[in-house]
Amino acid sequence: MRLDKLLTELTGMTRSQAREAIQGGRVCVNKEVKKVTAEHVKETEDFVTLDGQELVFQKYVYYMLNKPAGTVSATQDKTAQTVIGLFAQEDRKKKNLFPVGRLDKDTEGLLLVTNDGPLSHRLLAPKRHADKLYFAKLAREITEDDIALFASGMKVDEELTALPAVLRRLSGEEEKAFLPDGGTGAAVTLHEGKFHQVKRMFAAVGNEVLYLKRMAMGGVTLDGALAPGEYRELTAEEVSRLRESVAGK
Ligand code: URA
Repeated sequence: MRLDKLLTELTGMTRSQAREAIQGGRVCVNKEVKKVTAEHVKETEDFVTLDGQELVFQKYVYYMLNKPAGTVSATQDKTAQTVIGLFAQEDRKKKNLFPVGRLDKDTEGLLLVTNDGPLSHRLLAPKRHADKLYFAKLAREITEDDIALFASGMKVDEELTALPAVLRRLSGEEEKAFLPDGGTGAAVTLHEGKFHQVKRMFAAVGNEVLYLKRMAMGGVTLDGALAPGEYRELTAEEVSRLRESVAGK
């Protein structure tokens, strides 16, 4: 990879800032100052520094965020707080992060954040959409008919006929943890991701979602230690599960 390109990828600098830094003698490759912007570097082998600080090559990064209510799933917004705005400035700039798909502004829970465009695309592609698990607090208890309707792939409204989805009641510890103040809840697993889909599906059976949280996606489960607004990097195993979830679909 060209030295100026490496710099832009790892620091968030523009190409011209990278060129200036290189020509200004601020960049070393294997401890030698390099002033040629087109210098070829082996990004995974060479020891590259900017102002004496090593630039570690890592092409893609993957995070899980516990999205808090009130944030929009976007990189920029004129008025609302964005999910990317919750990330440390350094992580954000350096890595061109974006959310994998969207959760509604009032929805909480697992949102994957990465700079891996190809994987994000595969996770969201209609043909191989990764499975997603949601817990919903509802206005009323679900019925056996609701479960059967969700399972059969129902007509939700004029624009949406849903693929078969798995609906079940919450119970025991799971319910206690999700609804500490009581109320009625359900878990739903979708194999697609249409606009407001969970809310629209419950509305179609005469129910109402009072609170929605995504618990898992593509084989990755929200880390219970993350409070809303907190994030952490995915482990290598989690990244591999994500890849596996859309492999061969
Ligand atoms: N379904 C919804 O209705 N909202 C979300 O945020 C995600 C799925």
